[in-house]
Amino acid sequence: MNPLALTLNEQLMAQNPNLLDMMSDLGKNMYYPKGILTQSAEAKATDYNATIGMATNRDGMMYADTLYDMFNHLSPEEVFAYAPPQGLEALRDLWLKKVLADNPDLQAAQITRPIVTNALTHGLSLVGDMFVNPGDTVLLPAHTWGNYNLIYGVRHQANIQKYPIFDENGHYTTQGLVDTLQAVKQDKIILILNYPNNPTGYTPTVDEVRTIVEAVDELAKRGVNVITVVDDAYFGLFYEDVYTQSIFTALTNVNNPHILPIRLDGATKEFFAWGFRVGFITFGLSDAASKEIVEAKMKGLIRSNNSNGSTPSHSAVRYVLENPEQFNKDIQDNIDTLEARYHVTKEMVYKEAYQSLWQPYDFNSGYFMALRVKGIDAETLRKHLIDQYSIGIVALNNTDIRIAFSCIEKDDIPYVFEKIAQGIQDLQN
Ligand SMILES: Cc1ncc(COP(=O)(O)O)c(C=O)c1O
Repeated sequence: MNPLALTLNEQLMAQNPNLLDMMSDLGKNMYYPKGILTQSAEAKATDYNATIGMATNRDGMMYADTLYDMFNHLSPEEVFAYAPPQGLEALRDLWLKKVLADNPDLQAAQITRPIVTNALTHGLSLVGDMFVNPGDTVLLPAHTWGNYNLIYGVRHQANIQKYPIFDENGHYTTQGLVDTLQAVKQDKIILILNYPNNPTGYTPTVDEVRTIVEAVDELAKRGVNVITVVDDAYFGLFYEDVYTQSIFTALTNVNNPHILPIRLDGATKEFFAWGFRVGFITFGLSDAASKEIVEAKMKGLIRSNNSNGSTPSHSAVRYVLENPEQFNKDIQDNIDTLEARYHVTKEMVYKEAYQSLWQPYDFNSGYFMALRVKGIDAETLRKHLIDQYSIGIVALNNTDIRIAFSCIEKDDIPYVFEKIAQGIQDLQN
């Protein structure tokens, strides 16, 4: 049991033992992690808050005016009526069209119609409901989004196993995954693939994707069922020559019945609409009966949990997908802003003068980049940066920090990295 859950239970034991007794195993195992959200809360008052998984500028949130404006365009029906558990049908069709446009190697017949989820976290949790039994193995990258642990480790009691995605020099490598897959002894695994990666901002190249997919295929050819869960939260935020389709597409095209590709994506980051809670789950399945059965089961899972999503949010996303002209420009402006910040970040972190202070992990996409800091404790640095320089960053573990350039104005990025360097030097001395 997680130490935080143990502490909560010990406190409850002292305070109200009956209440503890009443709890299910899940209730007892649950806790609120001291992760990004806690660190974000502590950085709220800083001048340079590079902790959060949103995108901001001096005026506040970065958003699309067209998406904001549409609230004047919805009919009462589009706001107040229940959405079905699977989401508004028109929205599902529009998202399917978008998926196919973004993934030219994919055909409609190869996939299910996307089902609308209460954004990506909900979709990931539904995957757990449908596919993860206690003790099943979930393979996570060593650099990973913390919530997978809560969803699969705590809620679903999976056995979490991590595979490295960087070598000792901070360079991306597929070798850790290839070795891990070759060593699999179980007859079923759940493999999480998240690119652009949170927290490092890395997306594989075409060749690297080929290597990953071949390794998955090799494993599946041994008769192992491989449920590949592709978390595409940051899809589309690519700044270099990488594989710009979803890795879900490459996996679906393998056509191996022992591979089940599942894609989670949505408006959260792609449309700069974090609070809308609109995401999608799509399966790489081509036979009509399987598609229907999976949809029925997903609808049952949603119906028995949050019943259905929020109609105003579904209608809003539908509206901009139906009226893409100005909306696409709004979104592209935001992506261009992030890309400009990415280039300045890149110039800063690879400066010769800083190489004794940190080692960057390869990055080429998304919201974030991560550094391994040298000779000091990452959490001590995080607190020092808040106290001395009013800068908020995230400590990922003892050695690594994450910086969200999505939340720092381009002109402020040099200052922020100079002060991070200064902070490391303060502590090294
Ligand atoms: C990798 C990754 N997946 C999923 C999510 C959650 O997305 P949503 O807000 O749509 O639930 C995040 C959010 O930070 C993320 O970084």
